[in-house]
Amino acid sequence: MADCNFQLVIFKMYTDILLGLQWGDEGKGKIVDYLADKYDIIARFQGGPNAGHTLVIDGVKTVLHTIPSGILKPGIMNVIGNGVVIDPTTLLKEINQLEAKGVEVKKHLLISKRAHLILPTHKILDAASEAAKGAEKIGSTLRGIGPTYMDKTGRNGLRIGDMLEKDFRQRYEKIRDKHLHLLTLYNFDFSLKEIEAQWFESIEQLSSLQFIDAEYYLNNALRSDKKILAEGAQGTMLDIDFGTYPFVTSSNTVTAAACNGLGIAPSKVREVIGIAKAYCTRVGGGPFPTELHDAVGDKIRSQGNEFGATTGRPRRCGWFDLPAMHYACMINGVTQIAITKADVLNNFEQIDVCTAYEIDGKQMQEIPFDMIGKQITPVYKSVEGWQQSLESFKEFSELPAQLTNYMNFLSKELNTPISMLSTGPGREELLVRK
Ligand code: GDP
Ligand code: IMO
Ligand code: MG
Repeated sequence: MADCNFQLVIFKMYTDILLGLQWGDEGKGKIVDYLADKYDIIARFQGGPNAGHTLVIDGVKTVLHTIPSGILKPGIMNVIGNGVVIDPTTLLKEINQLEAKGVEVKKHLLISKRAHLILPTHKILDAASEAAKGAEKIGSTLRGIGPTYMDKTGRNGLRIGDMLEKDFRQRYEKIRDKHLHLLTLYNFDFSLKEIEAQWFESIEQLSSLQFIDAEYYLNNALRSDKKILAEGAQGTMLDIDFGTYPFVTSSNTVTAAACNGLGIAPSKVREVIGIAKAYCTRVGGGPFPTELHDAVGDKIRSQGNEFGATTGRPRRCGWFDLPAMHYACMINGVTQIAITKADVLNNFEQIDVCTAYEIDGKQMQEIPFDMIGKQITPVYKSVEGWQQSLESFKEFSELPAQLTNYMNFLSKELNTPISMLSTGPGREELLVRK
């Protein structure tokens, strides 16, 4: 056997991954913002402006769509990775809004040259495709996400780095014309001229940003002992492979996607922080076994202000879904969970948790291959509500007994520690387990 001479080098560097475990909007933005100054770099790894990540600092609300949620903490670098799809018009608007608030964006934002561009016709195709689906529509945010990822995997896409090339306009026109041809298949009215002009104008204005080979930047950072937090968008149940297909988004939203979407090897990943609400929501169409169509669902929506951060649509509300959470923890290898929006349940005498699905008279804890058209009846266990405000609580050990019981129950069922508990939208409204 050949001599195996190697030296074991232990780096202080690592990447942690933070992502959603439900159907999106779990409060990822808030937790990333809180954690940001414990890292050197915050890096978004997939999705695009379909995301809406809300940060509330000193009562002031900021909603981020493409820019990572570390941007409001001074001195942190924010990277948009190759897995993200970018609409220049939305990105420019986001940068302008932040700069108007005094945030130094350009200095702290780096964009992968490999990230794909959302073209104006991608958005039109998204709208045309949804309109053609009628009652079976996905409920897309209509930001052009699906068509852009289709062009990426179809090897037709345009990337951020292409904007710097001389023949960019010709390449754009070739793809646009192909899209216009595709659009003749739909009976769909649209007007391109204005949004196309705005798109090119935005590209011009964005040319002062820093476009980089992000995979080299991030790996060099790791080699010099820097810490990276990878920020996910959407949630596990919206993943293109593992979500409630076809009612999903068009990217992988799970842990593995952070490696693909940034160029970081799995061996460089330490913690996987999964975010989940103390109940469930979903916006858009598709299966949602614990959805409540009654006054209880309405109460969760009004107490939780459950309206989309990107589209303003009312979110569908329901109880915590353990089978879906088991699945999400398994697929993502979650090492710790942050539960958000506990305060929304302050005024409930009883809280239900779905422990299994009943399908065709049989109870199961696994997510069925196809959830569409199936009669899924949730099996519930009820826990007692705490019926008081959580404003004054700063430590896990001080929490009302009923809330502690609820958290212990979830943690035990999921065999994963709950390391954070969010009790309000504000940055400081968070309990962190020591
Ligand atoms: P994200 O997409 O996962 O970042 O989540 P969104 O920002 O779309 O939705 C979460 C919403 O809940 C936002 O309006 C947040 O300000 C708010 N939020 C986050 N954590 C809490 C919490 O613990 N309690 C309450 N009441 N609101 C919260
Ligand atoms: P964040 O990052 C919640 C949903 C849409 C629709 C489906 C497909 O804020 O958690 P798409 O525009 O991707 O084609 O829409 O996915 N969706 C989200 N729901 N939060 C999100 O992002 C979402 N991004 C997409 O409502 O049902
Ligand atoms: Mg959101």
